[in-house]
Amino acid sequence: MHTVLTRGNATVAYTLSVLACLTFSCFLSTVFLDYRTDANINTVRVLVKNVPDYGASREKHDLGFVTFDLQTNLTGVFNWNVKQLFLYLTAEYQTPANQLNQVVLWDKIILRGENAVLDFKNMNTKYYFWDDGNGLKDNRNVSLYLSWNIIPNAGLLPSVQATGKHLFKFPTDYATSSI
Ligand SMILES: *[C@@H]1O[C@H](CO)[C@@H](O)[C@H](O)[C@H]1NC(C)=O
Ligand SMILES: *[C@@H]1O[C@H](CO)[C@@H](O)[C@H](O)[C@H]1NC(C)=O
Repeated sequence: MHTVLTRGNATVAYTLSVLACLTFSCFLSTVFLDYRTDANINTVRVLVKNVPDYGASREKHDLGFVTFDLQTNLTGVFNWNVKQLFLYLTAEYQTPANQLNQVVLWDKIILRGENAVLDFKNMNTKYYFWDDGNGLKDNRNVSLYLSWNIIPNAGLLPSVQATGKHLFKFPTDYATSSI
């Protein structure tokens, strides 16, 4: 015996499971796509200074100043399941103190429908490039690379790193001018 109420419930439950199924297949249809893309990164100006940190100790640490060019075409990353991209530029380097240092220098959100062909020239970083010691001066091997997190409509999608790194080195001397 079906009352109106139980019928209503069954309809709602059915609708929900159809929706869940659809969402899941949407997710499946995009989870295995290759989201990698080429990025062209270049440094324009590279300086390092030795300045007191904000901490209580006022110890002097290395602070890098980098301006960069960035070209990439992320149009192909936007399939229908991509709501937005969170792009970030990371600097990676080694120091005697740490095998691996990673510092995020810049980021940007690109919404679906916005221009995804990027061509930036001589950009300043958004975040400070601090080292926790004196690991930047005369560092011969710093790499810059672009990554993004995909914010999807459904499901979880991986964080992706663009192919194409840029290697650069810091000068052997501290810059003294006040910027
Ligand atoms: C960007 O990539 C898309 C396809 O992935 C292509 O149609 C478009 O022409 C490219 N734009 C530029 C400026 O290279
Ligand atoms: C530069 O550093 C990267 C890791 O950040 C490492 O894989 C690479 O071997 C280094 N290259 C040189 C020449 O030291």
